[in-house]
Amino acid sequence: MRFLGAFILWIIIFLIAGAIFVWSGVYDVAADTQHWYVTKHLIGTARENSIELRTKGINVPNLDNAAMIKEGAEHYAEMCTGCHLAPGMDDSEIRHGLNPRPPNLTRFAPDPAEAFWVIKHGIKMTGMPAWGPTHDDQTIWAMVAYLQKQPKMGADEYRQLTADASQDVDEGMHMSTPGSSASASTPASSGTH
Ligand code: HEC
Repeated sequence: MRFLGAFILWIIIFLIAGAIFVWSGVYDVAADTQHWYVTKHLIGTARENSIELRTKGINVPNLDNAAMIKEGAEHYAEMCTGCHLAPGMDDSEIRHGLNPRPPNLTRFAPDPAEAFWVIKHGIKMTGMPAWGPTHDDQTIWAMVAYLQKQPKMGADEYRQLTADASQDVDEGMHMSTPGSSASASTPASSGTH
């Protein structure tokens, strides 16, 4: 009984300390200060395991398809390069202000099932948006297909592949204009399927 009493007391002390920490404002939410090592480690582990658990049932379709890769490249050029760069692009300003910094996706090809899940659902509190609310699965797989090729792609090849996309970049940013639905503002994909 005495042991149980001490245990409950510790839990109460812990909860009060936690509440003081949250309400006092001492936790620094600034993006331009680094996490403590322990916080970074905890968030990283939670993210990895969360994504791994949720990608288990995902069946990866055939991604080696030229039309699909082109469609994916166009969407990527319109929505993703500011944060993740592209062949021939060294850096961007937004990348320096984001915490965590978005990975440079010209350096490695992400695992297809994980990339699909992350693009569709986004990652809370990181700046990685969920594109699922505005894009169907087929379009997201097209971006995944493109990402598999990107690390081996030169700047010229990339420019050719995305020549159509850059012309309608304003519409392609998928800004909502009054009266238009999200799916109606994807001109790059409407011609291909
Ligand atoms: C505003 C910035 C931003 C934009 C725009 C953005 N992302 Fe991200 N993305 C991030 C950040 C930040 C992360 C890393 C999150 C983390 O470390 O947990 C990320 C992670 C990812 C990952 C996981 C990479 C890995 O390590 O396996 C993929 C794949 C990805 N993004 C694809 C995309 C695609 C495709 C688009 C465009 C449709 C896009 N992102 C647009 C910020 C962005």
